[in-house]
Amino acid sequence: MASWTPSSAVIPTLILLLSLPLLFFFLGPKILSPRQITISLPEELDDLSLFHKAIAMDTSNFSTHRRHRLPSAKSHLTTTLRRPKIAFLFLTNSQLHFSPLWELFFSNVSLKQYNIYIHADPLVKIPPFQGIFKNKLIPSKRTQRSSPTLISAARRLLATAMLDDPSNAYFALISQHCIPIHSFNYFYNFLFDLGRLSATDFEFSSYIEILDSEPTLPDRYNARGKNVMLPEVSFDEFRVGSQFFVLTRKHALMVIKDRKLWRKFKLPCLNLDSCYPEEHYFPTLLSMQDPSKCSHYTLTSVNWTDSVNGHPHTYHPAELSPQLIHRLRESNSSYSHMFARKFSPDCLNPLMDMADSVIFKD
Ligand SMILES: *[C@@H]1O[C@H](CO)[C@@H](O)[C@H](O)[C@H]1NC(C)=O
Ligand SMILES: *[C@@H]1O[C@H](CO)[C@@H](O)[C@H](O)[C@H]1NC(C)=O
Ligand SMILES: *[C@@H]1O[C@H](CO)[C@@H](O)[C@H](O)[C@H]1NC(C)=O
Ligand SMILES: *[C@@H]1O[C@H](CO)[C@@H](O)[C@H](O)[C@H]1NC(C)=O
Repeated sequence: MASWTPSSAVIPTLILLLSLPLLFFFLGPKILSPRQITISLPEELDDLSLFHKAIAMDTSNFSTHRRHRLPSAKSHLTTTLRRPKIAFLFLTNSQLHFSPLWELFFSNVSLKQYNIYIHADPLVKIPPFQGIFKNKLIPSKRTQRSSPTLISAARRLLATAMLDDPSNAYFALISQHCIPIHSFNYFYNFLFDLGRLSATDFEFSSYIEILDSEPTLPDRYNARGKNVMLPEVSFDEFRVGSQFFVLTRKHALMVIKDRKLWRKFKLPCLNLDSCYPEEHYFPTLLSMQDPSKCSHYTLTSVNWTDSVNGHPHTYHPAELSPQLIHRLRESNSSYSHMFARKFSPDCLNPLMDMADSVIFKD
């Protein structure tokens, strides 16, 4: 692993240079709906260069630890888990409606325990981020629903956070409609609970939903054309899950190293009704590469009852109550949900009113 060198990058880059214009020449005019944005070659190369930097940095700093690791939990923990941080990755195309609630979430928390990164669609004009979010915006590109740009944005956040701080050990993807439903300490202690280390190799797991028998899978598999995903991804390997995940650093590295699946997932969809690339790319990739180190459950509660147009239920102020927060924490796994979505912006005040007495009381 981790064998990237400047010379071995030449070939993928060349293939990319040659294949993108060809692809758009043959497929572009016929299938691209005018509303669907595509990823340009300069954007793609820009991302690749960021990923390469993050991969190179991670490899030089971490692989020596891994190779020289003594086969005991204690030595592993002292080398890689000294002061681990959680990287909070905010993926948004609007203001962060719940920033005051997040300010409370992070209040009293040492900066040695977390970092914040924001990816915001540059075409949407929003006022500069303030408070704990000030100067946290990373170089961002356009994002659009039903397009692979949401995968790119998440990978950009992962790579930027990996490069920025080698202490970032977990990476939590959050949207502007997400709220915390436990305190920071509860979440932090849960993730880094030594009891959660696997007994065989002392590794932590990622929290990502991975489902293999949803009825919509065949349509979504063929959204780019029948069997277009072959041979990289067979239908049996194709998975779906919530786009909101909490990944270990090892899995974040796997995600930014991937070229093979991305080659297919970046293709535009013919069928926009079945096009949710970000709900498939991450679960499929991790399920193919390291399923035993994935919980298969998300930590972000979402309510799909009566979903409209691919959007889950959005909670409004009238529905908010301490009981709702307690219900949202319930999950089908052995642990609680840590975040919930989606909430309308006007939920902010009622949520602030129950922040100390309910949300952060655990
Ligand atoms: C990682 O490697 C870079 C380049 O060698 C170095 O500047 C940086 O301090 C290293 N970080 C850690 C935590 O070792
Ligand atoms: C932060 O600390 C203050 C004072 O100790 C406390 O009243 C408050 O509840 C804490 N806030 C959170 C979110 O933990
Ligand atoms: C989920 O949303 C439906 C309406 O779409 C609502 O009736 C139900 O109470 C919600 N469930 C929870 C746990 O909030
Ligand atoms: C648990 O799983 C069942 C069956 O799939 C589902 O109906 C229910 O909504 C799930 N509950 C939660 C809290 O996710």
